[in-house]
Amino acid sequence: MSLALNNIGHLVTNDPSIGNGPLGIINNAGLVADDEGNIVWCGPQDQIDQYTEAQPIDCYGCAIIPGFVDSHTHIVFAGDRATEFEARMEGIPYEAGGIQSTMTATRAASDELLSLNAQHLAYEALCSGTTTLEVKSGYGLSVADEERSLRIARSVTTETTFLGAHVCPPEIKQEDYVDLVVGEMLNACLPHAKWIDVFCDRGAFSAEQSREILTAGAKAGLGTRIHASQLAPSGAIKMGVELGVASCDHCTHITDLDIEALASASNTTVATLLPAAELCTRGPFPDGRHMIEQGVTVALATDCNPGSSYTTSMPFVMSLGVILMGMTPDQALWSSTQGGAQALRRTDIGNLCAGSRADLVVLDAPSHIHLAYRPGVNQTRAVVRGGKCVVGAL
Ligand code: NIG
Ligand code: FE
Repeated sequence: MSLALNNIGHLVTNDPSIGNGPLGIINNAGLVADDEGNIVWCGPQDQIDQYTEAQPIDCYGCAIIPGFVDSHTHIVFAGDRATEFEARMEGIPYEAGGIQSTMTATRAASDELLSLNAQHLAYEALCSGTTTLEVKSGYGLSVADEERSLRIARSVTTETTFLGAHVCPPEIKQEDYVDLVVGEMLNACLPHAKWIDVFCDRGAFSAEQSREILTAGAKAGLGTRIHASQLAPSGAIKMGVELGVASCDHCTHITDLDIEALASASNTTVATLLPAAELCTRGPFPDGRHMIEQGVTVALATDCNPGSSYTTSMPFVMSLGVILMGMTPDQALWSSTQGGAQALRRTDIGNLCAGSRADLVVLDAPSHIHLAYRPGVNQTRAVVRGGKCVVGAL
């Protein structure tokens, strides 16, 4: 069934050639999608009859934005770390070691439970407007448990990432674990993975080990991404740029030289900022606006995981980007949609141009500014994915 919408008060297309400003905003707009769920046209609503014979659905002046692209999540896990969170709020600092407690719960869980947890979180994300989700492994940390984590991740998304190099599990020496990750574990995970990632940080993997892991993944045909400079400044961002990774994520302790390196590679490497992780670990917030002004391509994502950032809400992340990282509402909207798509090297999502997927969010609000302006408030009226209404009603 094709889809036709009109009386859209404020349509964000992310295509400056068809609308106003960098977000390509069209007021009083219409949109038509075909039976395959691809956009055929969007433009001024009085032209809609030229593009569809169907009676368009009235959006009553609501705003519509592209579906959020959450390019960084860890939603395959069991258990939670509420006690660790409580202790942290009393002053115990966040460290990479907490990952091992989720590893223990994840290994002990059945496939069914892990699948249900991942599906539940993916659905929660969808309800707040996330139409594309990247999902990492990284709480199995054995060949069998990483393989099944990725198999489960693949059941919720095509954007799956092998993160065997999250931390070293306790039963094995770090050097031997790196050998396992680049050997048997990589081979077992390859059929279910599109990307490889590594946590290059204090308490996780060194720059040298990270380079070895990413290089092995790339050689096996995976795209590369890196957790860089979350807990301490390091050479991880510059190394990521040098390796041509699609995305350097976190960038919490970013330096001027890192910003220069990212700006020089803005078509290749995106800096993915995860402000909910800074919020929940009481980390410093990188200056997103400054990075963008220096020429860095910035994405925003949730980092949804039980340790450092247990949220699936991209609207909330947008609020944090604006209120605590200096981004304008326009920048935060772009980074949460088109920026995420670029971090996943996708052009068919993150925008509402002819030919792209009809993935969109109908807001109970007059503009995208309200997403940042009303933190924590659900303003999702409906979510459309592939031209079909999957949440709420049109
Ligand atoms: O991105 N930094 C590494 N991984 C996650 C945290 C995982 C955890 O604490 O369970 C992150 O913040
Ligand atoms: Fe992460």
